[in-house]
Amino acid sequence: MADFETVHHDVLVIGAGGAGLRAAIAAAADGVSVGLVCKSLLGKAHTVMAEGGVAAALGNVDDRDSWKVHFADTMRGGQYVNNWRMAELHAQEAPARVRELEAWGALFDRTPDGRILQRNFGGHRYPRLAHVGDRTGLEMIRTLQDHGIHQGIDVHMEWTVLTLLTDGDRVAGALAYDRERGRFRLFAARAVVLATGGVGRAFRITSNSWEYTGDGQSLAYHAGAVLQDMEFVQFHPTGMVWPPSVRGILVTEGVRGEGGVLTNNQGRRFMFDDIPENYRAQTAADPDEGWRYTQGDKNARRPPELLTRDHVARSITREVREGRGSPHGGVYLDIAWIKERLPHAAEHIKKKLPSMYHQFKQLADIDITAEPMEVGPTTHYIMGGIRVDGDTQMTNLAGLFAAGECAAGLHGANRLGGNSLSDLLVFGQRAGAHAAQFARAHDEAAPDPRQADEAARIALEPFSRPSGEGPFQIQQALQGTMQELVGIVRRDDEMTEALSQIATLADRVARVAVDGNREYNPGWHTALDLGNLLTVSEAITRSAIERRESRGGHFRDDYPDKDPSFAQFNITVRKGADGHMELHHETIRPIPDALQQVIAEAG
Ligand code: FUM
Repeated sequence: MADFETVHHDVLVIGAGGAGLRAAIAAAADGVSVGLVCKSLLGKAHTVMAEGGVAAALGNVDDRDSWKVHFADTMRGGQYVNNWRMAELHAQEAPARVRELEAWGALFDRTPDGRILQRNFGGHRYPRLAHVGDRTGLEMIRTLQDHGIHQGIDVHMEWTVLTLLTDGDRVAGALAYDRERGRFRLFAARAVVLATGGVGRAFRITSNSWEYTGDGQSLAYHAGAVLQDMEFVQFHPTGMVWPPSVRGILVTEGVRGEGGVLTNNQGRRFMFDDIPENYRAQTAADPDEGWRYTQGDKNARRPPELLTRDHVARSITREVREGRGSPHGGVYLDIAWIKERLPHAAEHIKKKLPSMYHQFKQLADIDITAEPMEVGPTTHYIMGGIRVDGDTQMTNLAGLFAAGECAAGLHGANRLGGNSLSDLLVFGQRAGAHAAQFARAHDEAAPDPRQADEAARIALEPFSRPSGEGPFQIQQALQGTMQELVGIVRRDDEMTEALSQIATLADRVARVAVDGNREYNPGWHTALDLGNLLTVSEAITRSAIERRESRGGHFRDDYPDKDPSFAQFNITVRKGADGHMELHHETIRPIPDALQQVIAEAG
């Protein structure tokens, strides 16, 4: 066995965005030793891309709100394939988690009487998103980080995990390499929490930065854990489309929450054209009613720009495809128009949306207080991921937990904006607490050294190939395949073609070669990411082929309607004995009567 440096922790948390930090804090609070591994620098996390707010039924702006309405909204948004137990816990516990964050020093915008201010967001019936301007995720990360570093957590920055290690049936640690020097390190742990975020880098247009290559989902899958709902990818309706170098960068839904409207190249508010049946009663009849809603009129209904993300993204795609788009292939998002209604509108916009103002000024030379933005859908989030128990966040593998975006269940077929931040607080806390409990109840495990040796050997192979293809072209080709063939609008023939391209790309990855040595070698890092990207891309594609209906973030041109029989189960993916992906239909447990009643009452 190679002589790896070995570090022991009771609980190892992999990923240091909001979920990982919250899990590490919860585990440390239980008195166990905690290691926190992050691929990037601490604080650099996709959590910051949830800009507009954290969803919690505090009822500060509209006292009709309650956990019950939040639960019902989340289930409706997820089109009832959610893990209802997670949706229940999430809605019940989010307010306490937000208040706790405030007690730890998080800043929020305030109501006139000093309570946490809440804003409107798509699919939320009442103003529910606690926020600080359009920098909420950033503030949450700052707070969790400031709080976390005083809890005795050992942080291992710029380490990428290559494989999970097991001891018999139990997960017992991980092998990682350090991005700076290329050294290997074995992390031995009694319990492991995965909190690695999403898969956005499998697509060409994305709000995700380079870290989001599906690592947690892939590590879990190869260790024997079950994935579910991988077909449900969220395309956020509003990313930047111009200039090309910034395509995909997020434009917060907070713009629409503050009254921003979507128009096509004819100046028409096309979102009024197609309002889904199940949201009709809650949607404004005309622009005036929509505006009154955004200004807090409790008798008004929300504007159609605040319908759920899946619907808004598809409506934008339709406008573009039918020739009514903006010059660079998007549509217009206009917040400047509010000057017709509000005195001091420019100051108001800069105060409520400071990051958007600077982002457009600096990157596109657009003044959003005076002119519309050009926006289009961007791959933002995956609702699917690692299947977990709703209460404990433990996977089907003993000692392996998952929380945040890499875990599945809460959001069903489509996530409501702001529910990601509350998700990571609620389930990060639960995962960390239950991992600590598990660690205390179990002896130290012995990670299998042969697994570590094998992972290190495979990781170094690209250096030993004298000639071969570089990793960047392969990554680009994969992103093109997923974007074009498994994107917002899907069809069986195109996805079947995607599967065959993914298989060809896997052959190319097996021959990938990198130059240079192990220190600061981005080519090598990308080569190692490719395996994870291929695994999640295949899981997404196979699951999307299997779901022969349209639901939430998954839209099939060849099956454009919802099929009630597909509401009965989640599609799961696991590694078969022969090493190939196996798909199963996992029946969804019936929603208990009391929660059915909550949904019925919410209307
Ligand atoms: O639009 C946004 O601010 C994103 C929020 C989220 O993804 O939850």
